[in-house]
Amino acid sequence: MPWRRPKKQIERPIDVRRSLEESLEDAAEGEEEEDLVELVDLDGASIAEAAAGEPDAERLPTEIADKLRESLAGAVITEVRAVPHAPAETLPEHGVDLSVEAARGLWLKNPVLTASGTFGQGVEYAELIDVGRLGAIVNKGTTPRARPGNPQYRIAETPAGILNSIGLENPGAEEVARKYGKVWAKLGVPVIVNVAGYSVDDYVFVVEALDGTPGVVAFELNVSCPNVEGGMLFGTDPQLAAQVTRGVKDATDKPVIVKLTPNAPNVVEVAQACEAAGADGLTAINTVLGMRIDVAKRRPMLGTGSGGLSGPALRPIAVHLTYQVAQAVSIPIIGAGGVTNANDALEFLMAGASAVQVGTATFADPTAPLTVIEGLAAYVRAQGLASIRDIIGAALPRAE
Ligand SMILES: Cc1cc2nc3c(=O)[nH]c(=O)nc-3n(C[C@H](O)[C@H](O)[C@H](O)COP(=O)(O)O)c2cc1C
Repeated sequence: MPWRRPKKQIERPIDVRRSLEESLEDAAEGEEEEDLVELVDLDGASIAEAAAGEPDAERLPTEIADKLRESLAGAVITEVRAVPHAPAETLPEHGVDLSVEAARGLWLKNPVLTASGTFGQGVEYAELIDVGRLGAIVNKGTTPRARPGNPQYRIAETPAGILNSIGLENPGAEEVARKYGKVWAKLGVPVIVNVAGYSVDDYVFVVEALDGTPGVVAFELNVSCPNVEGGMLFGTDPQLAAQVTRGVKDATDKPVIVKLTPNAPNVVEVAQACEAAGADGLTAINTVLGMRIDVAKRRPMLGTGSGGLSGPALRPIAVHLTYQVAQAVSIPIIGAGGVTNANDALEFLMAGASAVQVGTATFADPTAPLTVIEGLAAYVRAQGLASIRDIIGAALPRAE
């Protein structure tokens, strides 16, 4: 985080009358307070915001917050040194029908999307891979105003994935539209905007700010955010999830996809409520809450304590929820969670997903989404299928 000063070294005498554990705990608490004060100084956040890593919607813009917004803002991107699009007939997927309806009214040329937060704004990866081959890209979670994100550390490795607590760092909806709008239209791939907020008005604000942006074809609502009125995550409560879905549906004619959180007590009920409120599709799923402890420091590794688990560790949970939700709704589902190759994608498709997102896998290998497309094409050919659509829901219980 460039705006964060190096941590000050503060001497804390150990009180010999207290146990070592107690003293270490006090020292660690003191350090955390120092961290928070630094954040308060530097980005205009309140102590509560810095501790929770979430903004206080009541907070008025401050001079420091305005400076931050300016520093995150940059020149309008009009050109990218993009990898040139290969002629269609030379691609391994050429001649195979991989097209799917990823959400009601959203037909894509193939079922492979990138996952929000793992592919920047698309333009960064366009310099590494031919993004024109992807079904669609999903941009980084976008909030009404600029957010600096959470305190460090924000990523910790786990045996089969990672924990992250990025905290929705983004330059704010109007700046995203201004900065990336021109170039998105030229990338040759549909863009789905991932929307986040702390009230229904926040979601509507972001959608209205980006609705007319060239290249944007749909909105994906990240409902893993606390509602300022009750602190509960939108996505954990069917009524709140329905409210935000309805609000956004009224604000746009583009397809609206709700991204389900596995941290809800009843994911199926949330999915059904979103469908009833007009959602055109669902993404299953966002990350699962987790934690790692730094044993040497005797405290959590991530700056926010807990974070979201992604990667292969998440896949069986995501496939299971996809399978459950697919039997309860009739709108399309986009599977997400630990997809690294075509076989993983096939698991989601057979569990009832119409498309998949590739996220954490692209950190290790930016070509992973393309490998998935090639593998799916090879599967359709090898199985003699007319289309990839033939295997959607193949593993679901058959209706008698
Ligand atoms: C570093 C990181 C940042 C993320 N940021 C967002 C985000 O801004 N909005 C969102 O809806 N999901 C976000 N996610 C969740 C992913 O989009 C995806 O749902 C999840 O990581 C599971 O897919 P994967 O295992 O393929 O990564 C993020 C995930 C990671 C790893």
